Amino acid sequence: MSDSPVAIILAAGKSTRMKSETPKVLHQVCGQSMIDHVINAVRETGVQKIVVIVGHKADEVKAALDHHSDVVFALQAEQKGTGHAVMMAEEALKDHTGSVLVLAGDTPLLKGSSLQKLLDVQQENGAACIVGTAITENNHGLGRIVRDEAGKFLKIVEHKDASEVELQIQEINTGCFAFQTQSLFAALKKLRPENQQAEYYLTDCAEILLNEGKTVLAANTLDIQEAMGVNTQDQLAEVEKVMLNR
Ligand code: UD1
Ligand code: MG
Repeated sequence: MSDSPVAIILAAGKSTRMKSETPKVLHQVCGQSMIDHVINAVRETGVQKIVVIVGHKADEVKAALDHHSDVVFALQAEQKGTGHAVMMAEEALKDHTGSVLVLAGDTPLLKGSSLQKLLDVQQENGAACIVGTAITENNHGLGRIVRDEAGKFLKIVEHKDASEVELQIQEINTGCFAFQTQSLFAALKKLRPENQQAEYYLTDCAEILLNEGKTVLAANTLDIQEAMGVNTQDQLAEVEKVMLNR
């Protein structure tokens, strides 16, 4: 148990753009909440423990997921970024020696098979971190995958921090990662909120681990639809259309 994969799902953020009283991750797509879809995809990989990070409207999210015996909750009282959110899971996973998937709760199109690929690539390479990437021309707002001339992964740069050249990059961070659990928590301790949003970016963990000499790879194992995070009612409708067509 303690070395089989676990998962962290981020669901603490506010969702102002949904213009709804319902917490974002509880909005329904094809009869199930967005976060239930993510939980189902995660379970396809054999994960037995899922830590859901709650914050905004935490009690409502917890109540809606109460019936899942494999889900535990960690509270992020203040939302200081995706890295800060993951820090909240440390207590729940302090004895875990295996891998951890880190995902967002508002991406209901994630497929279990893609998450399994992330875990497989991590295992095959003995990697501290695998960044799940996708290719898209619609890269606005997304983290860009920066590689060197030989194609070796270097870092993730957020849209707001990107240079003119980096803004052109079409390989993006889907927000899905596989980490070696204790390497992740060690890297999180080194995060500094020194960026345009003054947030603790989970994405910086990749570069931190690389600089420590660990193996970090960016693997194009997801399609862009899987990375579609829902922020608005229009996006919710679009995601439902895609799911109905599957
Ligand atoms: C994030 C990634 C970006 C990636 C994109 C994919 C970072 C810094 N950037 O950007 O590289 O391309 O996702 O969709 O990670 N959340 C919390 N607590 C917080 C902040 C966020 O729980 O303090 C949750 C949100 O509810 C959401 C998820 O984390 O489910 C992602 O956060 P969001 O603010 O949407 O990140 P992006 O800016 O989209
Ligand atoms: Mg987002």
